[in-house]
Amino acid sequence: MIFVNACIREEDSRTLRIAKDILKNENIEEIDLNKMNLLPYTYSNNPVMHGIKDEFIDLSKKIANSDGLIIAAPFWDMSFPALLKVFLEKLSIVDVMFKDTGETCLGIAKCPFMFLITTRGMNIDDESPLEQATPYLKALCELWGIEKFDSISAYNLDYSSSSIVEEKIKNAIKEGKEKLDNLKK
Ligand SMILES: Cc1cc2nc3c(=O)[nH]c(=O)nc-3n(C[C@H](O)[C@H](O)[C@H](O)COP(=O)(O)O)c2cc1C
Repeated sequence: MIFVNACIREEDSRTLRIAKDILKNENIEEIDLNKMNLLPYTYSNNPVMHGIKDEFIDLSKKIANSDGLIIAAPFWDMSFPALLKVFLEKLSIVDVMFKDTGETCLGIAKCPFMFLITTRGMNIDDESPLEQATPYLKALCELWGIEKFDSISAYNLDYSSSSIVEEKIKNAIKEGKEKLDNLKK
């Protein structure tokens, strides 16, 4: 499975702590976005607009053919860090993740699931309309043809005592392992 680490805080990231524990016995390949020097596309650096080879094509194929995509990302500005959006945009390559049928786009990725691991500072639960990370990721799964999506969160972490934070983290790890096991079935 591919593990995309979009936890920007290098030390003390609670999201990364949860992810590392959930994944400790899993066979994963980690991609650390902090180390990738990612820049958003503009006209001048977009390969599609200039008909040149896409430098992300091999990575995109690898993820499209992987047996699962796990993303750890903190909740930022009611969604996830822009760094992750930049990365996902680079992966979203025609004839790898989806094909253009002439009438619409059809997902062709073989990857069976996407799993988001996140933590939120505010008291925003998974069903809140203020939670704008998972709606986007679910839509992207639809575009790419990834059939299953699930997520695990711990929230209100910035407004809870340290003992409650620890409890929330412990619960997220336990529930996260169960959810990942279900996704793998
Ligand atoms: C730049 C930035 C933006 C944030 N935006 C939000 C937000 O919109 N809503 C929220 O609930 N928490 C927000 N937070 C708080 C984080 O979601 C929270 O502290 C989270 O646990 C951080 O994860 P980490 O410990 O893995 O870094 C933000 C934090 C940062 C640094």
